[in-house]
Amino acid sequence: MSADKSFLENIWYFAMPSRALSSKRMAALELLGQPLLFLRDGAGKVAALRDLCPHRAVPLSCGHFDGQEVECRYHGWRFGLDGRCAHIPSLTQAQRLRTCGSEDSAPTHPLRIRTRTYPIVEQQGALWTWMGDAPPQGEPPRLPELADDARPNLVLSMDFPCSVDHAVMGLMDPAHGPFVHQSWFWRRRSSAYDKSKAFGPVPYGFAMRRHPPSRNGLAYRLLGGRLETEILFTLPGQRVESITAGQRRVISHTAITPLNERTTRITHMMYWNMPWGFLLKPLLRRWTRLFLGQDRAIVALQERGLRYDPPLTFIADADTQARWYAQLKREYRQAQAEKRPFINPVPETVLAWRS
Ligand code: FES
Ligand SMILES: [Fe+2]
Repeated sequence: MSADKSFLENIWYFAMPSRALSSKRMAALELLGQPLLFLRDGAGKVAALRDLCPHRAVPLSCGHFDGQEVECRYHGWRFGLDGRCAHIPSLTQAQRLRTCGSEDSAPTHPLRIRTRTYPIVEQQGALWTWMGDAPPQGEPPRLPELADDARPNLVLSMDFPCSVDHAVMGLMDPAHGPFVHQSWFWRRRSSAYDKSKAFGPVPYGFAMRRHPPSRNGLAYRLLGGRLETEILFTLPGQRVESITAGQRRVISHTAITPLNERTTRITHMMYWNMPWGFLLKPLLRRWTRLFLGQDRAIVALQERGLRYDPPLTFIADADTQARWYAQLKREYRQAQAEKRPFINPVPETVLAWRS
């Protein structure tokens, strides 16, 4: 199978957790190889601009943001949250008067100069951006059972030195656990056993249907009660696991964001409803960092081999999710090109593997 290596466009991408953008602040982020600048004004309104001054291409993020306008560091041009140039300091009074007449008649009028803006949505403690040339369709995916103003209790992010495809395949891979994530408190290689799980399609992705989690995962046992978990994967790169134990809920959202072709940011956000959940926070933070670090280390090794662009092998059933990912991506692009509805290629089925 040869993977389609380009980025999926015309889709909502997770950009950053809300907390990464405080009031009257800006945050630069490379997304799909494009420079973006996220801004939040004093009233909490957010915007995403292309992080390049249209004058001489200096990144706007190198300038100053006063909570309303960002001022370019080179010649002081100022831009509002709508991307329009609001002020050009080098214009004389006469030039300013001349250009401030009708917008149409004055090609140098500051308001006609603008930097691109990107659609942006803030929900459930996260910022999402629509990447592509088509107008945004639908809304970013919503986490189940959580209010719009829900905030993650734990956020951790890490940059992986690999493409988005290998980051996704690595995180959805069921067979590496006993080798990459061995540790005394999680699982040992010898604790592997045969598993089978039911899968089925969900909008733009697939679900590992609700089931009792692995009996060799100690972390799950900490929650106590009758445990059930459901794992969703949706394009372009969201993994959402919801764990229930009686009234207790833990939802973890892993967002896989391509910064560029060689770097992919993994942001792991956890939401829970247990008032004592904060007690677990230091432990969860350490575990998550350890786990993500193990995944990052293995993709770094994988990159050594991928440099030679070798063909890869996909076996049933352990690699079926990776294959579905490639199929979903291809179908998303084809449906768009042919202007037809998306047809989910994932069947209702059971996959079996040993891990
Ligand atoms: S480069 Fe930004 S104002 Fe000149
Ligand atoms: Fe992993």
